[in-house]
Amino acid sequence: MTSIGTLGNTGNDTLRDVLTRLEKEGSGLGHFNVSDQVLLKAVIAAAAETKLPVLIGASEGEREFFGTRQLAALVKSQREESDLPIFLNADHTHSLAKAVDAAKAGFDAVTIDFSALPFDQNVARTKEAVQAIKTINPGILAEGEIGDIGSGSEIKDTVQGGNLSTPEEAHQFVEATGVDNLAPAVGNMHGMLKSMVQGKAKKHLDLERIAQIKKAAGVFLTLHGGSGTDDEHFRKAIVAGINIIHINTELRVAWRESLDKSLARDSNEVVPYKILRPVVDSVKQVVSSRLRLFHGQSVSSEAVGSVA
Ligand code: G3H
Ligand code: ZN
Repeated sequence: MTSIGTLGNTGNDTLRDVLTRLEKEGSGLGHFNVSDQVLLKAVIAAAAETKLPVLIGASEGEREFFGTRQLAALVKSQREESDLPIFLNADHTHSLAKAVDAAKAGFDAVTIDFSALPFDQNVARTKEAVQAIKTINPGILAEGEIGDIGSGSEIKDTVQGGNLSTPEEAHQFVEATGVDNLAPAVGNMHGMLKSMVQGKAKKHLDLERIAQIKKAAGVFLTLHGGSGTDDEHFRKAIVAGINIIHINTELRVAWRESLDKSLARDSNEVVPYKILRPVVDSVKQVVSSRLRLFHGQSVSSEAVGSVA
């Protein structure tokens, strides 16, 4: 099975190649979740605008809504047509069967997530899934998760998670499972508090812990729950060893706010692409702004501020 990323009509750069190059450059790869074609168009438009690589993600729920094979086919055709380094990740996959489905559909990476289980069971189930997806595609990137950062890219009333990962468990988990990249709990949290949506509060990361975990784990590191994180902490987290950054809620907030605005503009407007075009544009601005930040380019906080 060949993954989407290796079927591009340009470079034969795999996701692993891109991650290795970005790490040397001191940049992070942006991972953006999509659950419909509006969000997908926005992420691809941002990749085209910034000329930066992107990792498109879809969780089990998002894949169920989109269609796993249908999303893979769309991303593959976009990549072939546009020449852009676009990759696809099966985000938060909680079963062996769904990990296998994604690998068979040609996804470049799978986030295997058994982090809700006790550590030993997380290790055993992750190891089994890593072996299964690598049998289907040896080049696929297998990610494992440890710690608790809450669940759901939603607007929340209270902080979730908080049980931070240790360098020891990171080392033990990577050794035992054979994952290519690790997603630890380092002060991050899925979703945003209302104060974060309003731009009044930011997430802050345990930067020293990231550096210690990187050293102990010796693999690529992924930061989940990126929405609402302080810009400086993003930059410092990349320096400390983070390779992939997941952003979802910020996109969903921009999607919802711009859709509300677009619908309110003219109650007689019934043409979907006229209503949805501004939504694509709003989400694209958030994605472009985050991509530029992860690549050390100066950004105006305006785009992401628009979700406030
Ligand atoms: O896997 C998806 C993410 O970790 C996104 O988290 O909604 O807080 O950006 P977020
Ligand atoms: Zn996540």
